[in-house]
Amino acid sequence: MKIADIDFGNNLFLAPMAGVNDVGFRDVCACLGADATVSEMLSASAMLYNAKKTQFMTISSTKERIKIGQIFGHDEEALVKALQNPLLSHYDIIDINMGCPAPKIVKNGEGVALMKNIPLAYKLISACVKNSTRPISVKFRLGNDSDISCEFGRMCEEAGASFVTLHARTASQGYSGKADYEKIATLKSKLKIAVVGNGDVVDKESYNLMLATGVDGVMIGRGAQGCPWLFSLLLDQQPEKDKIFYIKRHVEILRKYYSEDWLTLYLRKHFLWYAQGFNGAKETRVQLATSDSIDKSLELLEKLYRV
Ligand SMILES: Cc1cc2nc3c(=O)[nH]c(=O)nc-3n(C[C@H](O)[C@H](O)[C@H](O)COP(=O)(O)O)c2cc1C
Repeated sequence: MKIADIDFGNNLFLAPMAGVNDVGFRDVCACLGADATVSEMLSASAMLYNAKKTQFMTISSTKERIKIGQIFGHDEEALVKALQNPLLSHYDIIDINMGCPAPKIVKNGEGVALMKNIPLAYKLISACVKNSTRPISVKFRLGNDSDISCEFGRMCEEAGASFVTLHARTASQGYSGKADYEKIATLKSKLKIAVVGNGDVVDKESYNLMLATGVDGVMIGRGAQGCPWLFSLLLDQQPEKDKIFYIKRHVEILRKYYSEDWLTLYLRKHFLWYAQGFNGAKETRVQLATSDSIDKSLELLEKLYRV
């Protein structure tokens, strides 16, 4: 997939994940084969105040090859100003979130709520396209309660989006059921712009099913949690180093930016994900869930991975 002068290489994307895609995680996913990495979603209105949280979320790693910053909002002026914000200047592409179903986002008329207001969604995308020198993409779901993905995708195309990403579930489905790959194939057949498929890619089998839809790129979220080497696996590549190396790298990068106290709590979820899939590791998982020392947690993980 190629957009302007950006060549997406292996067309594998790390999906945006709020509260997960810290700079260390994006770095290791990039090292392990994700050619495009997306930030956590960034509030366009929070950016007007240069919120400290946004500053941290926009730190990128030099290993990230194609950097995509994802913004959300319902206000044209705030979105256009966000595009000019120096915090976003290093991103190659800006993605607009029109798929988030979280109640606090939807109640502000943002995220997937914009799929109920196509004229406003059109206005926001075209304003961003007009005011950006970089490609603008849009990520959305099938719809709120029913599938309107083709209508919505066509609107994105008309508004000037460079590509779209479809998470093939409705908002009311949340994460239940299966992502509907047929709907992704249909959208791909209807649009001229590139389509990135998203939802439930967790192994080679699901990856091949997603590729069979004809999509231009594949975006992976939960499958990479605790498993950034999934990207290498899909590419039939052997990671250069052993897994514990990448876990330690994830942590060491974060230690450059965050306090040890904050990280101790924050990293628990990543450590628990890293400890998934090991037989007889229940006791280790209990220890990780309550650990008050990152180094001790790393030792526990090292034991699991060395067996
Ligand atoms: C913890 C978490 C946070 C997420 N945050 C975002 C986000 O900030 N922006 C977004 O567009 N989607 C977000 N998503 C949705 C994912 O990008 C993706 O569309 C969804 O998880 C389906 O893909 P998967 O089956 O590969 O996980 C999030 C998902 C999870 C699990």
